[in-house]
Amino acid sequence: MLDPIQVRKRAEEEIKRADNLQRLFEIKAKYLGKEGLITLALKGIKDIPQENRKEYGSQINTLKEVIENLLREKESELKEREISRKLSQDWVDMSIPLEPLVGTLHPLTQTLSKIKEIFVSMGFSIFEGPEIELEAYNFDLLNIPKEHPARDMQDTFYLNMDGYLLRTHTSPAQIRVMLSQKPPIQVIAPGKVYRRDDDPTHSPMFHQVEGLVVNEYANFRHMKYTIETFLRTFFEKEVPVRFRASYFPFTEPSAEVDIGCIICHGMGCRVCKGSGWLEVMGCGMVHPSVLENCQIDTDIYQGFAFGMGVERLSMLYFGIDNIRLFYENDLRFLRQFL
Ligand code: DAH
Repeated sequence: MLDPIQVRKRAEEEIKRADNLQRLFEIKAKYLGKEGLITLALKGIKDIPQENRKEYGSQINTLKEVIENLLREKESELKEREISRKLSQDWVDMSIPLEPLVGTLHPLTQTLSKIKEIFVSMGFSIFEGPEIELEAYNFDLLNIPKEHPARDMQDTFYLNMDGYLLRTHTSPAQIRVMLSQKPPIQVIAPGKVYRRDDDPTHSPMFHQVEGLVVNEYANFRHMKYTIETFLRTFFEKEVPVRFRASYFPFTEPSAEVDIGCIICHGMGCRVCKGSGWLEVMGCGMVHPSVLENCQIDTDIYQGFAFGMGVERLSMLYFGIDNIRLFYENDLRFLRQFL
């Protein structure tokens, strides 16, 4: 049996003398913890002779409340003391002038905004498709059937979910737009794309901007004009542009677009690998099968499409020679794009 009066005195004394929170927690454990004096005393009540049990039990319970209250009061006192100590020590001199805080937009963000701005000024609207895409939209409906070699051209990240993948290009956004909107259509679809690719000019994740125009009269000249105007506005000069016959399953005819090397101005250098030209995007007239896959009447409508790599354009515009630099967030790099 424990003597409530004695214990109370001792606890009061100890709590009074505690001068930090650590010590206070030790005291709390000593009395109220699992093996604490009060806890054990409460457990022992059942062994007290019947005639004393009630009286003793109520004394211990009162004692418990008293100690709890004392601990609580002391705790808030100590906490307050700690706060005022901190306030008096860690003060801030508001009169010291700050180094200028300069936040900047990431070069890729700057490039993307510029691309969007140019196309919006030409009457395009902006559509965003998902990065987790249906295999059917990424390939099949774009006229790339299962055994088509073009599926291997883009090393795909397949997902465990059947029928889904990480989109390998923004072209499936074309399908989503055509399935949900009626012509005339004039959209760009910017976003992240994923491929199993990793070297100084390729990253497993990068950005593309897709373009799609569908109406009753869209033709190759409209496409050429649109792309040339975009490129000259983007590079802020009269860059030479050429369209080179190429192949994409979802366009016919297809072309790749080159600009005169902006590093060597066509003389031939490391960046253009001596050719004087730099490839910047793919394009073409939307393949009739793709229009039909989206229930668009090919007797009435035709369209053109294009797709460009944002990192590539950004690297050429800013003169960046390694794609990794975009993703490392090294301040020495980022600070150059004020
Ligand atoms: N999707 C192609 C790629 O990722 C780029 C492309 C080519 C997009 C031609 C187009 C196009 O819209 O018409 O390589």
